[in-house]
Order: sequence, then C-alpha cells, then structure tokens
Amino acid sequence: MNNFLSNFPYCRPRRLRQEDWIRRIVTENFLKISDLILPIFLTYEAKSTEIDMMPNVKRNNINDAVVLANKAYEAGIKAVAIFPEVPKEKKDAFGKEALNENNIVCKAVRAIKKNVNGIGVICDIALDPYTISGHDGILENNQIDNDKTVEILCKQAIVNAEAGCDIIAPSDMMDGRIKVIRESLDKSSFHNTIIMSYAAKYASAFYGPFRNAISASNNLGPNKKKSYQMDYNNNNEALKEVSMDIKEGADIILIKPGMPYLDVLNKIKNTFNYPTFSYQVSGEYSMLMKSIEEGYFKKEDIIIETLSCFKRAGADAILTYFALEAAKILRSK
Ligand code: PBG
Repeated sequence: MNNFLSNFPYCRPRRLRQEDWIRRIVTENFLKISDLILPIFLTYEAKSTEIDMMPNVKRNNINDAVVLANKAYEAGIKAVAIFPEVPKEKKDAFGKEALNENNIVCKAVRAIKKNVNGIGVICDIALDPYTISGHDGILENNQIDNDKTVEILCKQAIVNAEAGCDIIAPSDMMDGRIKVIRESLDKSSFHNTIIMSYAAKYASAFYGPFRNAISASNNLGPNKKKSYQMDYNNNNEALKEVSMDIKEGADIILIKPGMPYLDVLNKIKNTFNYPTFSYQVSGEYSMLMKSIEEGYFKKEDIIIETLSCFKRAGADAILTYFALEAAKILRSK
C-alpha cells in the first residue's frame, strides 16, 4: 500500500460510497438466495401448530411441510432442514422413535423429495427430540454415554438416508461420530449422502426457543448440554473440533450459534478454507422478531443486514428462519 496516497486528503474513502451505483460496484460480498437454507419444524399433530416464542414459524404437519418446502424451492432456496417435535408418549430413554422408519422425519423426507423436485433435504442427527431427558445422547449413570450414543446415531443416519435424506447433519457433538457415521453410510451404499457436521456447536442460551418448539427443554438438568456442547469462552477448541471432523470425513462444517459467534466462523473459514455454514438460531430469530414487532427495527433492513454479516464473516450458506422472507427481499432488489 502506498502510504502517501492512502493518506487524507488524497485518499477519501467516501468517494467510493457516494452513490448507489459505485457502492454496488465495490461491494465485496454478496448474499444470494441460494445461500439460504430454511429450517422446517414438524408435528405429529393433525394440524400445524403455532410456536409462541417464534412468531411466524410453525410446527408443520406433513402436508404443510411439503407446501412450505415447495414455496422455498420456488423462491430459489435449494435446501430445507427438518426438525421434529415428538409427542411425550413416543419419547423414551434411548430415543427409539429416531430409528422408526415411519417416524415423522422419514415421512416428511419422502413426501418432500417426492413432491418438490430438485430440493435438498437435511436431517438433524441427534436424539434430543426423542429422549425423555431432551439430551442429544443417552444417559448412563447421569452422564451422556458417548460411544453408545454414536451407535444409535449411525442407525438414525441410515434410517434417514433410506428415507431419501440428502444431507445427514449430526448436531449432537459426540466425539468421533463423523467417522463412524461415514463408515456406516458407506457400508449401506450411501456413498453419495453428504455429511454436514455441526462441528463447533456451543452450549448456548440462544437455543431456548428451538427447545421449546420441539418440546425438549424441561428435563435437561442444571448443566444443560455443557458436557458435550462447547464452552462459549473458547476459540482454539473450535479449531480442534473442526479439524477432527474434516479428517473424519465431514463434507461441510457448521458453526453455531450465528451472530455472536462470527469471530469463530471467520477464523474457521480462514484456517481451513472448507465449505462452512452457519445457523442464525432460534434465539437470534426470536430476538429480532420481537424487536421487529415492537417497531425497533425495520424488518427488511435487519434481515438482510444480519445475513449479509454472516456472509462477510465467511459463511458459504446460512440456516435461517428468515430464509423465505430474505429470498423475497433479495429477489426484489
Ligand atoms: C439439536 C439441535 C439444536 C438446534 C439444532 N439442532 C438445539 C440444541 O442443541 O439444544 C438449535 C437450533 C436453533 O436454536 O434454532 N441437537
């Protein structure tokens, strides 16, 4: 950089900001519709239900899930990620319902893949919707048993792949699961099933509304998920987690939560140069939506700003409950 020229008054950075046309030409990052992934909640109830903590988001019955996925695809969104709310009577200590090939997730995958030609479907691999504890793994003597959980997760991955899931997304943070899930998928000839690892997932209060939405928040105990999800004070640990998952065979890695963790996202993207996604999680959504409802933020502005910041930080794609709205705004621009 030429020191003389980069000094005021020769250099005036505002020259490049003075009108829309020039601002657009020098824009460094672009948020595209195909960067957006829509999470879809499912319900076993006959009718879709409202989620109090997440205005405008529903738990969908199969039909509504298909309609929503179709709407997303027509808007230019390339993939949806599905999450079930499982009724109490189907929950148990081992998350057995996760392995039922006719559970709501498998049914929704089949219905979406059949009716929405071309869309990608992502399934969460974790037991929290299915266990009485609401934990992502199974409890032995009040501890989450890593290796026993991983065995079940492998089976869950196969069940979902058999239903037609395109991307298996382990969000459980057990150690070593990517390797064995990859091996299990390959053994069952699912060589082309993609693995998106929630590689650096922090123990976060921002998941509160999600846990409420899938009715998995009440029995977690005082330490919640801290024995497997990461401590939010840590950064180097994220590098370790991500490097392990890449070596174990993850095709895509995901960092979450989103907004307060963009430093981690940025570091990971710059260190590994790997397909790196992020998730604007439920608490971020609720926080923004409540403020939008109060009139503190203009909806269009705050949605596009927050998602563009993910992009600037290095996200290749973003899971966001605003995906449909963001797609609409981006299309009109
Ligand atoms: C479950 C899972 C969670 C989220 C995605 N998958 C919650 C958790 O770990 O407790 C959070 C998503 C959100 O808050 O929007 N393993």
